[in-house]
Amino acid sequence: ALRASFAGKSQSPSQRASVNLQIQASFKVAVLGAAGGIGQPLSLLIKMSPLVSSLHLYDIANVKGVAADLSHCNTPSQVLDFTGQSELGNALKGVDVVVIPAGVPRKPGMTRDDLFNINASIVKNLVEAVADNCPDAFIHIISNPVNSTVPIAAEVLRQKGVYDPKKLFGVTTLDVVRANTFVAQKKNLRLIDVDVPVIGGHAGITILPLLSKSKPSVSFSDEEVQELTVRIQNAGTEVVEAKAGAGSATLSMAYAAARFVESSLRALDGDTDVYECAFVQSELTELPYFASRIKLGKKGVEAVIQSDLQGLTEYEQKALEALKPELKASIEKGVAFAQKQS
Ligand code: NAI
Repeated sequence: ALRASFAGKSQSPSQRASVNLQIQASFKVAVLGAAGGIGQPLSLLIKMSPLVSSLHLYDIANVKGVAADLSHCNTPSQVLDFTGQSELGNALKGVDVVVIPAGVPRKPGMTRDDLFNINASIVKNLVEAVADNCPDAFIHIISNPVNSTVPIAAEVLRQKGVYDPKKLFGVTTLDVVRANTFVAQKKNLRLIDVDVPVIGGHAGITILPLLSKSKPSVSFSDEEVQELTVRIQNAGTEVVEAKAGAGSATLSMAYAAARFVESSLRALDGDTDVYECAFVQSELTELPYFASRIKLGKKGVEAVIQSDLQGLTEYEQKALEALKPELKASIEKGVAFAQKQS
């Protein structure tokens, strides 16, 4: 049912039966930063997945209680808690998917780049441990600024000699979730039918929803395109301002991240029809990392969907060119940080 709700599809009784009979919990997932605003609801949603046999919760504080609490849910996975640097290695051993929402979130008036100084070091430290303990795992980076933390993670893995670009993902699923919701509302569509690819990066104008590629096909006036694009780009800030100092998006982010975990597990489990948007190493543009739709398989990124960049509207083409300098600078900032530290 979880899978169906993330995929936005309802199930027939026979599909439900096959889900119940066929799914065996077999994957291990680690959440680093599991006691945080995103970490807690994300861990709950992962605990509900029938594909997970073991859920490893790691944080520098407060994780024991979160794990004790979650362990009482009568779903198949075992929940284990790990606290502090000395237990980080054990949290990661044998893990198939590592999700990283560790770090500080934005407060009103802050950009995602303002988080760089704190979160860059946190991500570097955690990814070093991933390289040492589960180098084959899928790595999902949520910690902001994603446009820089993903290049940092790649450099760290490269320095450790274990970088597999097909298995490192910046999580941009929330941008897609938001685009789907706002387009459905604007056009009175059934939410579960809507799918909007979002490309570029994950901050401000680097977030580029391709409204012309929305499914189902809908037409937008120029004003609607402008209004929706700006709203999707600023949706994170909408939440930061509404929370007025108490953090950024956590619940919708947990929902989005859980969808990306579930998609990854389905791909690892052999499902050959899994597509998501993510910020990955890419040859789609001249930039070394770029968010786009990808096909997921057992070995990670199986294909980057090229066709999304073909036949863009003039508005989208201009926005694509406009985002490149900012995205390039954020990528280079991450690479420089990791190289300076090594
Ligand atoms: P939070 O402050 O509520 O939780 C962060 C957690 O990380 C805390 O439990 C903290 O103890 C833990 N932590 C800090 N340093 C750590 C370390 N070295 N190792 C392990 N855990 C550590 O923050 P929240 O709201 O959960 O946000 C987390 C991150 O996610 C932020 O960087 C935020 O900007 C980002 N974010 C990303 C989104 C995306 O779409 N990719 C959307 C929303 C937030």
